[in-house]
Amino acid sequence: MDRIKIIGGERLNGSIPISGAKNAALPLMIASLLTDDRLTLKNVPNLADVNLLARILRNHGVDLAVDGKRSGGAAHLGETFHLTARDISDTTAPYELVSRMRASFWVLGPLVARMGQAKVSLPGGCAIGTRPVDLHLSGLRALGAEIDIDAGYVIARAPKGLVGGHVLFPMVSVGATHNVLLAAALAKGETLIENAAREPEVGDVASCLVKMGVQIEGIGTSTLRIQGKPRLEGAVHTVLPDRIETGTFAFAVAATGGDVVLEGTRRELLRNALDTLQNTGAVVTDTETGVRIARNGNGLEPVDVETQPFPGFPTDLQAQLMALMTRAHGTSVIRETIFENRFMHVQELARLGADIKLHGDTATIKGVKSLRGAPVMATDLRASVSLVIAGLMAEGETTINRVYHLDRGFERLEEKLSRCGAKIERISTG
Ligand code: UD1
Repeated sequence: MDRIKIIGGERLNGSIPISGAKNAALPLMIASLLTDDRLTLKNVPNLADVNLLARILRNHGVDLAVDGKRSGGAAHLGETFHLTARDISDTTAPYELVSRMRASFWVLGPLVARMGQAKVSLPGGCAIGTRPVDLHLSGLRALGAEIDIDAGYVIARAPKGLVGGHVLFPMVSVGATHNVLLAAALAKGETLIENAAREPEVGDVASCLVKMGVQIEGIGTSTLRIQGKPRLEGAVHTVLPDRIETGTFAFAVAATGGDVVLEGTRRELLRNALDTLQNTGAVVTDTETGVRIARNGNGLEPVDVETQPFPGFPTDLQAQLMALMTRAHGTSVIRETIFENRFMHVQELARLGADIKLHGDTATIKGVKSLRGAPVMATDLRASVSLVIAGLMAEGETTINRVYHLDRGFERLEEKLSRCGAKIERISTG
């Protein structure tokens, strides 16, 4: 199993290309199930989660051809996927595949919409909370799907096709919004989704669906009005930049000091997180090609933050902010309101000398003068990258075990950081 070794204390300087967003690439790939035409996705990041979803889609009968990078192309441009779901040969998404990644559950809506039936295993994914699927199911029921749960599988049926309906989500769910939005694209008539997730990745999927011939009003807002079509066309779509990767590197630069341009990304995708970063004393400026992050000399100011659905501070950057705050001049308070068990990084950060107290959903972080490198264990995707940030700040050597969590969501992480001066390397043990 691979490990990552970091010798902390180096400043980061230079530029880092930001990849396409994992959380958009996954539902966009799933959108290919809605049409028998070809869907071409550009800027797809090369990640374990993307490869796993490719396997799941192939299992349904989707043909996937991948173009490599064009020589001379911008470094942040990822692969191009051509997906064609001409014949869906299998409407079952098995436990062995779905249990490894929660987003694969989102095939349920598109499959039942196109094929009139689907059988999808209840999902797995990061162990960051119970993460039920009740909102997905009630949303699809509102579109006429009959749903049963049997032996760990959700079985959805709509022999005469789905019919547009009114979905009012009692709480914001990114996944349930994707699932219902994708299904509504092929449902007969109009679907109204209220309290939809406003995450930029939802907007990216909606924009792609528009290219495929669906009429959608309210993209980027919490009210989506979708006019379904009996048949969708193919399209060419470029995956938007990864705001979580952007934020992670931004926080890493603030943590180590230095000056880095994050190429190919946009500030508005994570305005709240970058405003928070500015409040810690880092300087954030827009450049023509991306966002520049700098921190020279000055210490870090503490900040108090509560995670919220977009446009609030993202839960996917909570662990990274906490790593940063371990060295702030004072005490910060971070409240996690989205997932109940998303503090597994706390005990690992403590191994490096961080002073963090947990009370329910709230972490109180007292800044310490220095962190000291140690062996630590990655526990989930975002938690593991917070350990990288802490390792970059710590004196001496940090080794991070179980880095397969990182590979799920960060493309060429150690290469991107080492090009900016970090002492970080992957140790492969076969
Ligand atoms: C997505 C993101 C993940 C991010 C999360 C919140 C992807 C691939 N994953 O995950 O990185 O951390 O949004 O921004 O895009 N909930 C229910 N019932 C449901 C569905 C969700 O109670 O049917 C709850 C969850 O337990 C959680 C909250 O709603 O407490 C938000 O979850 P949701 O937005 O659905 O997260 P995911 O789509 O799984």
